[in-house]
Amino acid sequence: GQVHYYDFVLKETNFTKLCSTKSILTVNGTFPGPTIRVHKGDTVFVNVHNQGKYGVTIHWHGVRQPRNPWSDGPENITQCPIPPNTSFTQEVIFSTEEGTLWWHAHSDWTRATVHGAIIILPKPGTTYPFPEPYAEETLILGEWYKGDVMAIIDEALATGGDPNISDAFTINGQPGDLYNCSNGTTYRLPVYSGKTYLLRIINSIMNEEQFFGIAKHNLTVVGSDGAYLKPINTNYIMITPGQTMDVLVTANQSPSLYYIASTPFADTAAPYDNTTTTAILQYKGNYTVPSTIPFPTLPAYNDKDAAGNYTIRLRSLASKEHPVNVPKTITRSIFMTVSVNQIYCPNASCAGPSGNRLSASLTNISFVTPQIDILQAYYRRLPRVFASNFPDQPLYFFNFTGDVGNNTEYPALATKALTVNYNDAVEMVLQGTNIGAAENHPMHLHGFSFYVVGMGSGNFNNKTDPKSYNLIDPPEVNTVGVPKNGWVTIRFIADNPGVWFMHCHLERHASWGMDTVLIVKNGGTSATSIRPPPKYMPPCSKS
Ligand code: C2O
Ligand code: CU
Repeated sequence: GQVHYYDFVLKETNFTKLCSTKSILTVNGTFPGPTIRVHKGDTVFVNVHNQGKYGVTIHWHGVRQPRNPWSDGPENITQCPIPPNTSFTQEVIFSTEEGTLWWHAHSDWTRATVHGAIIILPKPGTTYPFPEPYAEETLILGEWYKGDVMAIIDEALATGGDPNISDAFTINGQPGDLYNCSNGTTYRLPVYSGKTYLLRIINSIMNEEQFFGIAKHNLTVVGSDGAYLKPINTNYIMITPGQTMDVLVTANQSPSLYYIASTPFADTAAPYDNTTTTAILQYKGNYTVPSTIPFPTLPAYNDKDAAGNYTIRLRSLASKEHPVNVPKTITRSIFMTVSVNQIYCPNASCAGPSGNRLSASLTNISFVTPQIDILQAYYRRLPRVFASNFPDQPLYFFNFTGDVGNNTEYPALATKALTVNYNDAVEMVLQGTNIGAAENHPMHLHGFSFYVVGMGSGNFNNKTDPKSYNLIDPPEVNTVGVPKNGWVTIRFIADNPGVWFMHCHLERHASWGMDTVLIVKNGGTSATSIRPPPKYMPPCSKS
């Protein structure tokens, strides 16, 4: 592969949106940030210069980074933040991924404004497993907050309640025609009649799954999370925070303007946020601009069948060139519960709704981020930073169908890592445990892609449900939506030694403790062990 070099300068930049101007943290002054474009097998060195006001880290979402957790980025998991006025060079190694991924800040809530696309083209001399599109376009679904994002999460954590929602969703940084003061800047995607385009769609939104569609145009989904899929024809997609979807669209309607729209999916009593962002598909040529631009029909915000029916259609391409390698025999089996709940809060200063503080947990452990990164502590055997005894099963009976507020067991606060052996064939059943409130949980694992071999509603039944597993062509992804009252089974080979964060990609759930760390031990040789650390890692000043 080739080697590429990028400079990422983190700095405050002014933008005017929704009728007001504010300064946000950006990379190289743009929102969204720059695109990284490589071929499969390339390596990229990114020199991250922090000219901002606070410490920041950058993560390459979905890039496996074989044996190289040192450049993975999650704050206080694999590194401490890059202090202001210093820089850190990250080595991003592209091995097996092909398609669309993305990068984002991985400290506090900085990723709201610090993110961008990663495009991984087929190796030179090879082609897409679908007809070559006429052109490609990246559509990043994002958000705009009028307030300061850091202040929003700090306040939510201090009071124990839900954080404020953003003021707009955006497509490539623009809110679109339905928002105030946004008409002139709506993102436009020019197309030639008759041509086919590859759209690389990324959900970088903090807290909302999305339905996405284009008026009168069919979508053919051909990839997700940096892997190819069997083509799916549909008129909408559902995409969770963290996910990417590669979609072909042919400009086969009468030349005109058509709305592209994205709106939240939330399987809740009331939408967390029900606003809609738009862009415009704009045919080239001469025609009369319609007085009303056609708008796509998208499912209702709470249409969980529409969301589920789309998701279960995803299947690996499973071709000779892109085979699946799903483990058939399991050597390590883990059952993990995924919950939003509350934490007992004895004093008024931290009290939120119902006197307690909103919290989230995996297997009833609400993750506490340490002061020194876990990778360093693991590599240098520093004591008292974390425990390596995250349980394979819940420790006591847990009411999987319990609702928020009905939980009688409070989660424990702890920093526990789940440790597996090199080359273990790992199966994880992720069981959602909330019925009424809360949402699906887009669980994301660093350092791996995994196969989603099964999915269902209600409590997982270990006798009958495994019979429905797809071991032929399950989708290979890095983020999977765990139904809030259902389960998902994933499988992967633990062939990437390192320290890998695992968490819900709804940022408020991650902040509330819906996280853990997967430690994959070294194999017996240097080629199956974590690489030695680079000469310079950002210091952990708080230690
Ligand atoms: Cu997209 Cu831990 O991140
Ligand atoms: Cu979640």
